[in-house]
Amino acid sequence: MIILRNVNKIYGKDEGAVHALKDVNLVIEEGKFTAILGKSGSGKSTLMNVIGALDSPTSGTIESNGVILNDLNKNQLAEYRNKTTGFVFQSFYLEPTFTVLENVAMPLTIAGMNKKEREEKAIEIIKELGLEDKIEKKASELSGGQKQRVSIARALVSNPDIVLADEPTGNLDSQNGAEVMNLLKEIVKKGKSVILVTHNMEDAKNADNIIEIKDGVATASYMSKYEELFK
Ligand SMILES: Nc1ncnc2c1ncn2[C@@H]1O[C@H](COP(=O)(O)OP(=O)(O)OP(=O)(O)O)[C@@H](O)[C@H]1O
Ligand SMILES: [Mg+2]
Repeated sequence: MIILRNVNKIYGKDEGAVHALKDVNLVIEEGKFTAILGKSGSGKSTLMNVIGALDSPTSGTIESNGVILNDLNKNQLAEYRNKTTGFVFQSFYLEPTFTVLENVAMPLTIAGMNKKEREEKAIEIIKELGLEDKIEKKASELSGGQKQRVSIARALVSNPDIVLADEPTGNLDSQNGAEVMNLLKEIVKKGKSVILVTHNMEDAKNADNIIEIKDGVATASYMSKYEELFK
């Protein structure tokens, strides 16, 4: 379970300051599919980035399974991210000149795993996602839907507890988009927590829990059962 208490995020200073998250109090339930729903500029990506420890809040605390992330130093945070989280983005962020295998194995390289072991793990997940015939292809040679499947494989390769996806269907046609949504649902079935950022109510309807964000203010109906945690 992840608990956000009084989380604020302010970008910039003085007149240019943008208050992107305003006193956010939230619980992200373990093993659930959570959607963060809101319009462009509402603070969705900012919220996802602080939940996934890609960015730190200006104030407030983030607790992940009892660990207060604010207390971790840079290296500890990097280790937490590497072990616990996997990210999927709208624009994939694959290394275009690397092969599918190299892209998927990248997080394991960063984690210091040896070549044989990381290739075994990467191949296993590539097969699960039906990409085995593309394994030696360069990322730049793939279609959008294939690129997104590779980036999902990369997010899963280190067996994270939490998969965070920021508008993962934003650059895909409806068929590939539906396929990505199905993959996310499968990931939840395997016991992981999935956090999906979307501006699309239809996509959000796939989730167990919906967090709505407007102008940096986050609300969620399921939070009524957690009132005690915030007293
Ligand atoms: N690095 C940054 N520096 C300054 N302001 C930022 C930065 N990142 C985001 N913002 C501002 O914070 C607010 C929330 O941005 P955020 O990217 O979280 O919105 P979003 O809901 O993800 O939007 P979109 O759907 O367009 O991706 C916006 O007003 C945005 O301009
Ligand atoms: Mg965004």
